[in-house]
Amino acid sequence: MEKIARAGDIVSEVFQVLARQARPGIRTAQLDKLAEELIIKRGAIPSFKGYRGYPYTTCLSVNEQVVHGFPGERQLLPGDIVGVDVGAFLNGYHADAATTIAIGPLDQGVSKLVQTTRDCLALAVSMVRPGIYWGDVAEAIEQKAVQNGFEVIHDLFGHGIGQKLHEDPLLPNFGKKGTGPRLKEGMIIAVEPMLVMGDYEIEILADGWTIVTKDGKWSAHEEHTLAITRDGCRILTGQRNYGEQ
Ligand code: MF3
Ligand code: CO
Repeated sequence: MEKIARAGDIVSEVFQVLARQARPGIRTAQLDKLAEELIIKRGAIPSFKGYRGYPYTTCLSVNEQVVHGFPGERQLLPGDIVGVDVGAFLNGYHADAATTIAIGPLDQGVSKLVQTTRDCLALAVSMVRPGIYWGDVAEAIEQKAVQNGFEVIHDLFGHGIGQKLHEDPLLPNFGKKGTGPRLKEGMIIAVEPMLVMGDYEIEILADGWTIVTKDGKWSAHEEHTLAITRDGCRILTGQRNYGEQ
């Protein structure tokens, strides 16, 4: 847990730097370079670069891109949202987290999407404890999304994490109370709600990685690596400011 927390500190620092630098006109490739330089300066290795051939340090997913967006020459514009997903590997262990950054003032609906995604993650964090069924958490995540007029992605999941970036169990963002894996003290999991303004159908672009919504409506993503503790959980990828529920 402590080793993953040290990797998580680096991930959290990447968000702080990128949130400061993400502004209209910046190219997503510039943000990826900043992230990579920082991770290496801290003595860690980017978890994603080379993972199943993924070519970059970060996944930067803009607007209708859900996850796994390639950093590149695209310039961010006022009103855009960019999902920043990053992992760091340090002393044999991975930490993985994501957040969605606003570029200037957002449309009201988009702002609600981003806030609700944060609320879904905060709700999951508040529920995660030994003995709970993942289905209890997953049902609550989906309910909060739907109550606010959004859908959760059905084809992408959270996951266990440790010496490998992706470990068992799979953690969908929808489910039924009393079903699915039961959480145990000592497990380390990456919880990652992905919400959309329209339908949850997705497709993969020709680059083989970038996942977008089929209907072109926008999407937001938040992720923390969590350790299940005796009486709840500990966030290993830094506190962020959750406006909350
Ligand atoms: N953070 C992503 C996840 O949660 C990992 C991206 S896989 C990569 O599963 F290959 F794109 F790096
Ligand atoms: Co993940």
